[in-house]
Amino acid sequence: MAERIRINFISLFLPLLSLFLPCTVAIGAPTPAPWPVQFHSILFINSSDGLLQVTDLWYDWPNGRNFNIIQHQLGKKLYDLEWNNGTSFYYTLDANKECKTVHFPVGILRPNFLDGANYTGQEHRDGFLCNVWEKADFITYYEDVETERPVSWTFFSGMRAHVMTFEVGKVLDEPNWQAPVYCFEKAKNKVDYATLLLEPTPTSGLNLMREITNIPTGSNRVLVS
Ligand SMILES: *[C@@H]1O[C@H](CO)[C@@H](O)[C@H](O)[C@H]1NC(C)=O
Ligand SMILES: *[C@@H]1O[C@H](CO)[C@@H](O)[C@H](O)[C@H]1NC(C)=O
Ligand SMILES: *[C@@H]1O[C@H](CO)[C@@H](O)[C@H](O)[C@H]1NC(C)=O
Repeated sequence: MAERIRINFISLFLPLLSLFLPCTVAIGAPTPAPWPVQFHSILFINSSDGLLQVTDLWYDWPNGRNFNIIQHQLGKKLYDLEWNNGTSFYYTLDANKECKTVHFPVGILRPNFLDGANYTGQEHRDGFLCNVWEKADFITYYEDVETERPVSWTFFSGMRAHVMTFEVGKVLDEPNWQAPVYCFEKAKNKVDYATLLLEPTPTSGLNLMREITNIPTGSNRVLVS
């Protein structure tokens, strides 16, 4: 009789205990705020070799699209338009009419792409006290302790992004999401996906990030397919 009571107690208690455990863990280590589903951000980016760019980032998860409009210092303005079906267009809007189309096996970054990142503590970055996380030896992410807004991130390559503005809910006007007609004309514009990942371009960091962070942990990471 006593034996049966003990078993019942344990079988009741264990599920309850496991309900509370995740809370205990969450209090110990903060988790990064998911990205708002729509926002506009101006990023100041210093690539690993010291080249500078200003990027307009238009993140638009409900519409399955993401736009990086990249102004290189005294150089090219590059439009990097990414769709969640895997198609990305890289183009200029100048007289050269350049466009490359790339198909990625994964879509755009998910709002929760930092899930599972390792918390490494607090640090000052760009004058803000930040919570810091690392994910997959690939990205170090700095979030303002007070507002939970992203402040900065660094890729393993050394490329460092500084978040200058962060406008939650702002969406780029519709006509700007249309890739130019020359992106659809020439088949020769199609670039081998593997080549692009290996090219040391300013956007290759972000492309790698999509690869690594969008693949669920536990699955084999095939970077080049
Ligand atoms: C860019 O990064 C390089 C190397 O990390 C550094 O020497 C340089 O001061 C940085 N430039 C700016 C404007 O932040
Ligand atoms: C993905 O969507 C974009 C925008 O609608 C379109 O231009 C592109 O052709 C699509 N790609 C595929 C593979 O369907
Ligand atoms: C977290 O850190 C552990 C130990 O260094 C490592 O094995 C794991 O891959 C890291 N997880 C992520 C998502 O980076």
